[in-house]
Amino acid sequence: MSVRRLADEAIQPESFAFTSENAAWAEAKIKQYPEGRQQSAVIPILMRAQEQDGWITRATIESVADMLDMPYIRVLEVATFYTQFQLQPVGSRAHVQVCGTTPCMLRGAEDIRAVCQKHIHAEPHHLNDDGKLSWEEVECAGACVNAPMVTIGKDTYEDLTPERFEEILVAFRDGKGDTIEPGPQNGRRYAMPLSGQVTLLNVPERHTHKDDGTSDKTNGTAPGRKRVVTEESAPAIEGPSEEAKVSTERAEKSKRKAAGSAKRKPDQAGREGATGSESAAVEPHGKRTAAPLFEAPAGTPDDLKLISGVGPVLEGKLHALGITKYAQVAAFTDDEIARVDDALSFKGRITRDNWVGQAKALAEGGVDEYVRVFGKKPR
Ligand code: FES
Repeated sequence: MSVRRLADEAIQPESFAFTSENAAWAEAKIKQYPEGRQQSAVIPILMRAQEQDGWITRATIESVADMLDMPYIRVLEVATFYTQFQLQPVGSRAHVQVCGTTPCMLRGAEDIRAVCQKHIHAEPHHLNDDGKLSWEEVECAGACVNAPMVTIGKDTYEDLTPERFEEILVAFRDGKGDTIEPGPQNGRRYAMPLSGQVTLLNVPERHTHKDDGTSDKTNGTAPGRKRVVTEESAPAIEGPSEEAKVSTERAEKSKRKAAGSAKRKPDQAGREGATGSESAAVEPHGKRTAAPLFEAPAGTPDDLKLISGVGPVLEGKLHALGITKYAQVAAFTDDEIARVDDALSFKGRITRDNWVGQAKALAEGGVDEYVRVFGKKPR
């Protein structure tokens, strides 16, 4: 962050005044704030002043402070804090803000900066020879996926090459900036791949409600935005997709398997003893849901939350799998660990957290045994 100070006294104008149109705008803006909170209008009013004159002068700050009944120092603090406010004169046709943050830097921001140095000035915050252009380096402008980029006025110019940026700069210098389309300069739309949209091609219809209380079917496109998918590119939405059909078949298969498993007799540890790899049902929408792997033993469930790594939610899921006792967990075989791991998408957590060892201690001697074995109380 560079030190931000007001421009040299030698170039500070004597006074500042809004045009009548801007004065009326500022007056209306101030009225939008509740009584006693008019000072909150300081940023929009300073910004309007900058749009009028190009930069914020000492006189601007004093004038805005008087309008809002604020101490000068308070407005000075605002103007010098936000880099959006220019504290020295900027080019009459364009002030270029070159993003120099890492993604843009990695994608060639230094070359973009070199173009500024060549066509404008070697140093930032200086005008070019005829006073039409100026530049500075700024931090991320939030268009990293289209790096490198620059901001000119309220528009961004993205996916730049030095050659393309040079053309843009020359157009602004020659007063033809409005002939340049803002946004990506390499032909792509927004941030989508150069080859075109590849995701969200099959968007289901849904209803949107209009202000008049009626509703329209839409394809999920936000109001005011054009639908990008063309008739040719978007497959017709008729009935369930192939993926949904496969998912439904899987769900049926899982249900049949679970029903068959429930009929088998549990072993002495309360384990079902099934050897199949299916440990969870798959619903038609593809979401996995826990199906019992074990027949829950009779009696009051143990407090599985004493096992480090098990919280209330997980305890509920274990109950749904038929696991309610320390002894069950303590007797887990490798195959059962793998199946529970799979059912809960744990990726090895049962072994990593040593559930079996913890449960064994709790099953054998409760909290005292746990403390003896692990040297600390269970959670
Ligand atoms: S890094 Fe340049 S826009 Fe984010």
